[in-house]
Amino acid sequence: MRRSLSALFAPLAAPLVTALAMLVILPPPATADRTVVGGHPAHTALAPWAVALASRERFGDARSGQFCGGVVVGPTTVLTAAHCMSRGVLGVNWWEVGDLRVIIGRDDLRGSGGVEMAPRWVWVNPAYDQGGRAGDVAVLTLSQPLPRIYGVAMAAVGDPAYQPGARAAVYGWGDTRGNGSYASTLRATRLRVMPDATCEEAYPGGAEGEYISESMMCAGLPDGGRDACQGDSGGPLIARGKLVGLVSWGSGCAEPGRPGVYTRISAVLSQVTAAG
Ligand code: ARG
Repeated sequence: MRRSLSALFAPLAAPLVTALAMLVILPPPATADRTVVGGHPAHTALAPWAVALASRERFGDARSGQFCGGVVVGPTTVLTAAHCMSRGVLGVNWWEVGDLRVIIGRDDLRGSGGVEMAPRWVWVNPAYDQGGRAGDVAVLTLSQPLPRIYGVAMAAVGDPAYQPGARAAVYGWGDTRGNGSYASTLRATRLRVMPDATCEEAYPGGAEGEYISESMMCAGLPDGGRDACQGDSGGPLIARGKLVGLVSWGSGCAEPGRPGVYTRISAVLSQVTAAG
């Protein structure tokens, strides 16, 4: 009986040992699995409000010309960061970009899925402070309304989604390692909303930048490892199913003690509602 049992399991033993050996020998797929740094694949089918801003004229067509993120908050209203519409990013004024596009429903920028729409108008927050980076928001108005399911609700002042410790997720096609490795497919990563005191401590002003709690919020993990990064700017930070922030700035990407800083949606809500 003993013998026949071991004979039965013998063919299973070899593959099992091989599988275990692979687990030990193979490096974890950590570098292949980052976004948004430290992230995982995401899909516009589940995050239809996550959109890409693009210009092939300015940024080439390898990745559909993607240069920033954005988020749909109404049938014709897309939010992004004001700095995404700046000359610093575009090289020219936004109205001089001949082919500015909002790309909706395209997971893979190498493909042609979803739709591309040219904004009819762009409103850049006139109070945006390039130096201090406060008020980093712009509104792109689409010429054709999108179906309702595309929009995400914006969290108003006092919404529990802003509470420190709230679970949040950021979405984008940006750098996955902080070294210019731009993602081709949409990615997301899970973060926590951080207390203002932690954000202020991380960014007291000077070289690292200054955190201003009235118009900014910050999110990350205490030990870093997950964050938005270059190319994610303007993209959404979602908590409790609502939009709480737009990717704005940070020192490096995913570094411990250097959380990502976001435009605080509640601070710009009335302006973007009026502009859209
Ligand atoms: N300014 C960057 C951009 O234009 C976003 C940087 C976000 N950085 C961060 N560590 N969260 O894409």
